[in-house]
Amino acid sequence: MAHLLITGGAGFIGSHACLTLLEAGHSLVVVDNFEGSSAEPLQQVAALAGLGPLERLSAAHWGTADEPRRLLVLQGDIRSSGDLDRAFKASSTAVVEAVLHFAGLKAVAESVAEPLHYWDTNVAGSRCLLQAMARHNCRTLVFSSSATLYGLPDSVPITESAPVRPINPYGHTKAAVEQMLADLAASQAGWRLARLRYFNPVGAHPSGRIGEAPPRAAQQPLSPDQPGGPRAKTVLEGLWQGLAHGRWHRSQGLHPCHGSGRRPPGGCAQTAQHPPPTPHPESGEWPGPFGARIGAGL
Ligand SMILES: NC(=O)c1ccc[n+]([C@@H]2O[C@H](COP(=O)([O-])OP(=O)(O)OC[C@H]3O[C@@H](n4cnc5c(N)ncnc54)[C@H](O)[C@@H]3O)[C@@H](O)[C@H]2O)c1
Repeated sequence: MAHLLITGGAGFIGSHACLTLLEAGHSLVVVDNFEGSSAEPLQQVAALAGLGPLERLSAAHWGTADEPRRLLVLQGDIRSSGDLDRAFKASSTAVVEAVLHFAGLKAVAESVAEPLHYWDTNVAGSRCLLQAMARHNCRTLVFSSSATLYGLPDSVPITESAPVRPINPYGHTKAAVEQMLADLAASQAGWRLARLRYFNPVGAHPSGRIGEAPPRAAQQPLSPDQPGGPRAKTVLEGLWQGLAHGRWHRSQGLHPCHGSGRRPPGGCAQTAQHPPPTPHPESGEWPGPFGARIGAGL
């Protein structure tokens, strides 16, 4: 089982990913500055995963009561190399093998009003994270990108090869990070970098205890058919099941959308508007700009 660093793990997608990864047996260290969230979803995640409650270990550091602590939470900023160094060294027994990078700002209108804040958090934050990964010899990352990259597409359904033409600052920052990842992957062997261009994931955990509005969901579970209710959950569970089961194996490499060789139950992040890719018939590697590195094995 892997020890993973999760940025933005208290957020909507990050909290669902944390739960699925914990249920699969991985141990996690979460870095989140709670700008768009709070520690509450992670309390819920710890409970749903059957771990002890999150205890405050220091001013900005929590851990589950179990030993060894399966979930460590650091209130920290991805733009701070000191916070990231603390996160990489948070476990005294395990080395971070891979990073799932969810931290970021995502509101289009806000990005138009505050573009510098978006470039700082999304782009400078991602650069700072990649630099920290290099310092700590961790070179595997899954980046939360966005289908907003496609802007106004020429046709739908959108294919992965559609031109990248973002039309707002939020989209520009996602495109910039993708370019940074591509440049890094081209510069040096050993980086294994994946991007997931989400459309609009919706839904909540069947318990109703984590969702896009966790405090509300916790107090008043959503009805099954309500948008965001249990039956409305679409891609999240399948996506993280795919990552959690089978793609951290050293021999197999990382194929984010296709967990254990079979289609994950909820599909992948792109299935709503995008037919699933297929592996190369001979090499078995999955297509896409990062395909060769993704499939290269650790
Ligand atoms: N939800 C969607 O529909 C959607 C669609 C496409 C892409 N995405 C991307 O997926 C990622 C996660 O989305 P989400 O819906 O879970 O968002 P979210 O706002 O719920 O979660 C983002 C998390 O990042 C944290 N964060 C923000 N700035 C930070 C910083 N400087 N340092 C540390 N933590 C920071 C926030 O506190 C929050 O917990 C984002 O990068 C977003 O752009 C989301």
